[in-house]
Amino acid sequence: MILVTGATGTIGRPLISLLARQGVAVRAVSRDPQAGALPADVEVVAGDPSRPDTIGKYLEGVTSLFLHPRAVGDAAGDLLALARQCSVTRVVALSAINVDDDPAEQPSRLQGDRNKEAEDAAVASGLEWVSLRPASFAVNTLRAWAPQLRAGDIVRGPYAGFTEPLIHEADVAEVAARALVDPGLAGRKLRLTGPQALSHEDLVSIIGHVLGRPLRYQEIPAEAYRHAMVERGMSAAFVGALTARYARGTGAAETVTDDVEKVLGRRAHTYAEWVADHAAAFHG
Ligand SMILES: NC(=O)c1ccc[n+]([C@@H]2O[C@H](COP(=O)([O-])OP(=O)(O)OC[C@H]3O[C@@H](n4cnc5c(N)ncnc54)[C@H](OP(=O)(O)O)[C@@H]3O)[C@@H](O)[C@H]2O)c1
Repeated sequence: MILVTGATGTIGRPLISLLARQGVAVRAVSRDPQAGALPADVEVVAGDPSRPDTIGKYLEGVTSLFLHPRAVGDAAGDLLALARQCSVTRVVALSAINVDDDPAEQPSRLQGDRNKEAEDAAVASGLEWVSLRPASFAVNTLRAWAPQLRAGDIVRGPYAGFTEPLIHEADVAEVAARALVDPGLAGRKLRLTGPQALSHEDLVSIIGHVLGRPLRYQEIPAEAYRHAMVERGMSAAFVGALTARYARGTGAAETVTDDVEKVLGRRAHTYAEWVADHAAAFHG
């Protein structure tokens, strides 16, 4: 039995579906099981992984656990200690490719994600562990740009030349599914990226190509972007960390790894393939 935390989210949902399709017994934890709409053959239980006592009874019979930093919050160590007292022998932690960067320069950390703590807790747990360190999810571009793309053919944003190897959430989920059952990956920190580092300009042009529209990215000054984001309610610290990251990654391509291919025996999905899989969402 595999227990999945963060089960109703970006990575958890495709992970659950994949495990269910593979015939693996899965228990999905959600704070609100009714809202999740997970596959019918998955056992969905109510609990909050950030309060391990709420899911202790669901650890019985579990052999592998997917540890989701956003869902578990500050409780990764406590949850894994509890898991170890039960039947759990393996943990796969979700982390991030930038986890060793200066914490003040990790935008997700400023939003409360504890990727480093989740990874460290897995390593220190005494369980067999694997850490997944994905690059930025391709779905971030949908969240950031879809409203502008529904309104017209121009995406306005900072740092047109900022480059990164975005990853399809399905690739992260498939590597997670493998790591949850394959002892051969124990003790690895897998750096998961897409197959190509692409700039903001490249990404918008690929969206246009896939959707059959003449789209382009128009750079705006970083200061104007920061101001607009703070006006919309984002914290100045978060926007500052994000733009600092954009500034660092402009003209200095992030490393593309082949860890997805090494684990799965096939290349990672391209960004164009990801857009094709989400075309309906871009249309709204
Ligand atoms: N986005 C990226 O580009 C990127 C890249 C690399 C790493 N990461 C890391 O990956 C993680 C995010 O993964 P994701 O996109 O799969 O997460 P997500 O979809 O936002 O959330 C996963 C699930 O966690 C639970 N959850 C969300 N917020 C919570 C909160 N404040 N307290 C308790 N539970 C909460 C929810 O489940 P229920 O409501 O069902 O309980 C949710 O469905 C973060 O740690 C992030 O730093 C992100």
